[in-house]
Amino acid sequence: MHTRITDLLGIRYPIIQGGMAWVAEYHLAAAVSEAGGLGIIGAANAPAEWVREQIRETKKRTDKPFGVNVMLMSPYADQVAQVIAEEGVAVVTTGAGNPEKYMELWKSKGIKVVPVVASVALAKRMERCGADAVVAEGCESGGHVGESTTMALVPQVVDAVEIPVIAAGGIADGRGVAAALMLGAEGVQMGTRFVATTECQVHPNYKEKVLKARDIDTRVTGRTTGHPVRALRNEMTKKYLEMEAAGATAEELEYLTLGGLRKAVVEGDVKNGSVMSGQIAGLVKDELPCKEVIENIMAETGKALKGAAQYE
Ligand SMILES: Cc1cc2nc3c(=O)[nH]c(=O)nc-3n(C[C@H](O)[C@H](O)[C@H](O)COP(=O)(O)O)c2cc1C
Repeated sequence: MHTRITDLLGIRYPIIQGGMAWVAEYHLAAAVSEAGGLGIIGAANAPAEWVREQIRETKKRTDKPFGVNVMLMSPYADQVAQVIAEEGVAVVTTGAGNPEKYMELWKSKGIKVVPVVASVALAKRMERCGADAVVAEGCESGGHVGESTTMALVPQVVDAVEIPVIAAGGIADGRGVAAALMLGAEGVQMGTRFVATTECQVHPNYKEKVLKARDIDTRVTGRTTGHPVRALRNEMTKKYLEMEAAGATAEELEYLTLGGLRKAVVEGDVKNGSVMSGQIAGLVKDELPCKEVIENIMAETGKALKGAAQYE
């Protein structure tokens, strides 16, 4: 399948594995890229030397394009931006801020810059400052979320910008990919589906919780603090939401989630940690190698698109 996204990123399939803090490290990123998608290392708040190591390990495992997701609010963002330019990766996706100040550096190295956006206004701003594409991420997704759903956001972003759009949030099978293409997206980014893969290094408790999740099992904490995060419900989300409703301060709430993702991913504490996951977890029922996930999804996409043709 050819789209502007496959051409731009030099990948076989228009499937991108979202950069995920603590989750998306080199085993996962390399496996996705090897399978014909675009693997992404999640730099999150990690120091630049960790990112350098991750890039080098990924390169040992694949010679296909892969990316790094930079969290622009990270205290290490400046150094991470530099390491990315030095080591050379195909793509950078960015979240939590404006990547404008790094644009010249990355562009001079031929790195494609793809910011993640949750609104039309931000998509337009990113296009103006030289982004090669945008990921339009709806609030069904795991992790930090915006206001709009994927269904509403994607076509509005597609209409607002000339650059290609990648849809994210709530996509885990070929029906989702076909739907995203119908909305005008030219690729998809998935996070939750890739958590439940053989190559993903998260604690088995984390994977099990994703695999057992039902459609209504996610909660969004932090709406009152302006930093909403979607995760699977557990003791932590229950307590958080109770405290939030009772008017707890931002500091009290932050204390509750401090190190929460690490707790769940590394220690397997899925009761008190933050088990970030999208609403689509209810659809994810099997742990598979990335190659199988991607090939199944592409086969389903073809079927779904053919099926849709019957309504012509
Ligand atoms: C555990 C987890 C951690 C995430 N961390 C990040 C991150 O650090 N940076 C980012 O831009 N997006 C992050 N995301 C969002 C994903 O990159 C992706 O856009 C999202 O998961 C897509 O929605 P889906 O979960 O419905 O597939 C995270 C998602 C999950 C599930």
